[in-house]
Amino acid sequence: MKNTHTLADQLYFNDVLAHALNHAANQVQDPYRPVWHFAPQFGLLNDPNGLSYFNGEYHLFYQWNPKACKHGAKAWGHATSKDLLHWQHQPLALAPTQDYETHGCYSGSGLVNGKQLELFYTGNVKFTQGGRTAYQCRATYEAGKQVEKKGIVLPLPEGYSGHVRDPKVWQHQERYYMVLGAEDLNYQGKVLAYVSDDLQQWHWLGEVFGHGLNGHQSDDFMLECPDLFPLANRHVLISCPKNWLERDGQKVETFDVTYHLGDFDYQTAQFKHQEGVLMDHGFDFYAPQTFADQNGRRILFGWMGKPDEYEAYQPTIAHGWIHQMTCPRELHLVNGRIRQTPVAEISQMRHSEQAFNGLSTCFIGLSAELQLHDLLGKELTIEVADDLRIEVDAMGLRTVRRNLKTQQWQSIEWHGRVESLQLLRDHSSLEVFINAGEGVSSSRFFGQGFGVEANRGFKLSSKQEVSATFWQLAHNL
Ligand code: FRU
Repeated sequence: MKNTHTLADQLYFNDVLAHALNHAANQVQDPYRPVWHFAPQFGLLNDPNGLSYFNGEYHLFYQWNPKACKHGAKAWGHATSKDLLHWQHQPLALAPTQDYETHGCYSGSGLVNGKQLELFYTGNVKFTQGGRTAYQCRATYEAGKQVEKKGIVLPLPEGYSGHVRDPKVWQHQERYYMVLGAEDLNYQGKVLAYVSDDLQQWHWLGEVFGHGLNGHQSDDFMLECPDLFPLANRHVLISCPKNWLERDGQKVETFDVTYHLGDFDYQTAQFKHQEGVLMDHGFDFYAPQTFADQNGRRILFGWMGKPDEYEAYQPTIAHGWIHQMTCPRELHLVNGRIRQTPVAEISQMRHSEQAFNGLSTCFIGLSAELQLHDLLGKELTIEVADDLRIEVDAMGLRTVRRNLKTQQWQSIEWHGRVESLQLLRDHSSLEVFINAGEGVSSSRFFGQGFGVEANRGFKLSSKQEVSATFWQLAHNL
């Protein structure tokens, strides 16, 4: 096979290796490092990319800056797993070394095509005089070989700003479809669709979603990381609408994730949909991506982070890395709503079960699971660390966390009747699944003491008797 690696790739790899050698020791005594969630060995991780089940393994590619714990010209990292729990790091998949990707190999997706995995991503190019453009690019991967870049398949379409990115590609019957996140020339967020017969030539299909389409009204200026997929006999569109918010007299960007349930017309690109629903009610969830695995499960990974003004305060930076993925979650459609549940594989890690019935107790475990049932009408608090707690009452569930920069307590609410809870904890992350995935809250936490002592486990206190089951989660069973 032709080796498509250039001298620029070689120099990039040498740089990354030097960075790795310089940071490897920082992980010794790192209290924040997850055991079973995917995190980078070093550098900054953001969006999951190219998710797929290919050649007998799960493939997780991801946005990665292997040279610093900051955003910048992203590369694609790559890891594989047989069980979604144990990940094996693979050679760096894409480095931003070509002139059509000078400022990053941005997010994209994977598609299994016989013996190869097709990868689509955005070549991000910023101009020195300001402004930017974006190219949708293709690469191919064969098991055990280096990813091979195939170049640009789609230049910037007319009528949009330089913000057109994050191709999600899938097959429907005999054809291939791509959705892209975009900002139009009126600063309105749009999702665009293209169709192809050969994965190389892409033809405009239409605008799928955005202000003024199918009754949707919003002033979001950009939609990132769209994902359009069938679920049961409907279609779901997940996207990340960007908007502005006033905080402490400053204009800052919002980072939400919503889904719309609807029906997609493959001829016209029309997507008739219902109201949007927020996908997470915690502090750290963005840019999720889904894929269908070999058993037809629709599995989602999200980035358990946000590119806000607080990320630079995360203490893992002192250990040379920042951010992690969520746990893999299976999506289900129940009564017209999406439910997210941790994939069944996660229960394989359970051991040392403890059952509890009463008002208050403390479960010690840094990597652990807690389940509570029959909670209707009950009021309780679960402290996870001295900077993070969950409160439940008749209104719903609140995730309460101390802000890393301001030290102020902040809370995010999920409104509804809480019947049951499943909490997954892994050193510096908490995922809460309400009523078998009807609501989810994902947050990182680091403890005020910056050490293991502060991060106890789960401290439960309730006004009424509750019954709970607790497990340690071990990765090496
Ligand atoms: C979302 C995002 C994408 C982009 C990538 C760059 O977090 O901004 O739109 O492709 O991250 O790393």
